[in-house]
Amino acid sequence: MRILVVGKGGREHALAWKLALSNRAERVFVAPGNAGTDGGPGGKLASVKLEQDNFEGLVRFAKDEKVGLVVIGPEEPLAKGITDALEKEGLRVFGPSKAAAQLEASKVYCKELMRQAGVPTADFKVCDHPQIARTYIDSRDYDLVVKADGLAAGKGVIVCTGREEAYRAIDRIMVREEFGAAAGRHVVVEKKLSGREVSILALVSGRCILPLDPGQDHKALLDNDKGPNTGGMGVYTPAPWLTPELAHQIDEEVFVPTIHAMRRRGAPYKGCLFAGLMITSQGPRVLEFNCRFGDPETQPLLMRLKTDLLDLMEAVVDGKLEQFEGKIEWDNRHAVCVVAAAPGYPVNPRKGDPITGLDEVAAMPDVQVFHAGTRRDGNRVLTDGGRVLGVTALGESLARARERAYEAIRKIQFRGIQYRSDIGLRDR
Ligand code: AMP
Ligand code: GLY
Repeated sequence: MRILVVGKGGREHALAWKLALSNRAERVFVAPGNAGTDGGPGGKLASVKLEQDNFEGLVRFAKDEKVGLVVIGPEEPLAKGITDALEKEGLRVFGPSKAAAQLEASKVYCKELMRQAGVPTADFKVCDHPQIARTYIDSRDYDLVVKADGLAAGKGVIVCTGREEAYRAIDRIMVREEFGAAAGRHVVVEKKLSGREVSILALVSGRCILPLDPGQDHKALLDNDKGPNTGGMGVYTPAPWLTPELAHQIDEEVFVPTIHAMRRRGAPYKGCLFAGLMITSQGPRVLEFNCRFGDPETQPLLMRLKTDLLDLMEAVVDGKLEQFEGKIEWDNRHAVCVVAAAPGYPVNPRKGDPITGLDEVAAMPDVQVFHAGTRRDGNRVLTDGGRVLGVTALGESLARARERAYEAIRKIQFRGIQYRSDIGLRDR
């Protein structure tokens, strides 16, 4: 089968790499891809010069190339209805509809659905005017988090300490419209929670929900969880904190009611559903849902996945996921992914610097370098984005996987390279 993966990050490189390892995959196109999405396993990967928002171009390409499955990586095209646009043309798509992608694209939709469905989440109020928000802030005697309604590239969430900070957040989002006019029309003001932040990804199709092994993301830029929030600086998997009891609780209290509520609303969910959770002293609380695989969670997870990803994705698309219940197989080893970011990330990353050491790392066993913000320039690979590479390694223990990932990343150089040195240290 010929497959098309839409997107250009580390997650998409990992998805394409894993799909190419399937015997049934003949060719895996990645649009637009990056410097890592050519060649690959069996030489099956090929980048295609089509941007993720060019729905017409993607439809034409998929039809001309007789693509049997289109896999959508990022949230933006999903929120704009890429699944609907491709399916209307008879293509098979892994990814939720525009209606279902609202779960990530609108914080208001998400919170109201959770309230109706009884899914545990922070107490909140939706405000459509700055004064209403200020009055609500005054009425609370705890710290708050202010969230812009729309997609804001992971930025429209402001975690506040004290009332003054919360007022300022309202000002930035609703008055100065720093995240855009649309994202500033409504805000969610919610209680700040404390605990361990974790994410669980599940494959979902119809009524069937199959959670994947958990991974522990590290969102802050710097060691010891210091510095600004990023898209994710590293992940290790499996995560020892997820006991079978907690996994069961998350399934029963979060995934099942959410998926039922989506069906009742006429927006059945199909694809990967990512629950961002805070494990509080009162139990798990949902911070957010994402309507796609995590980045960089996907990179180490897929190194451990033994089941054929193409089989799994087709089962999701065809509504036959039940056949994999209790049957998804994982490599028992541990995997660690360390993200190498460009200087200036996450605010204003520097681009265009040559990357060296990739060939040397390619020769290391049980190591994969997933490209994210990279592009090819003749024989050279240049930095081309904030998160540049996800250096991922397998090991018999978390410590061994960690050592190997860091051994690999130390061989890679580009001007101003930055990465955390403590991925996987917390749960040693
Ligand atoms: P979100 O996009 O909603 O996940 O928010 C981004 C980040 O903000 C999360 O990964 C958390 O670190 C933080 N955050 C969001 N909501 C809360 C909350 N209610 N309490 C504490 N931290 C939060
Ligand atoms: N790593 C967090 C995310 O994909 O949203």
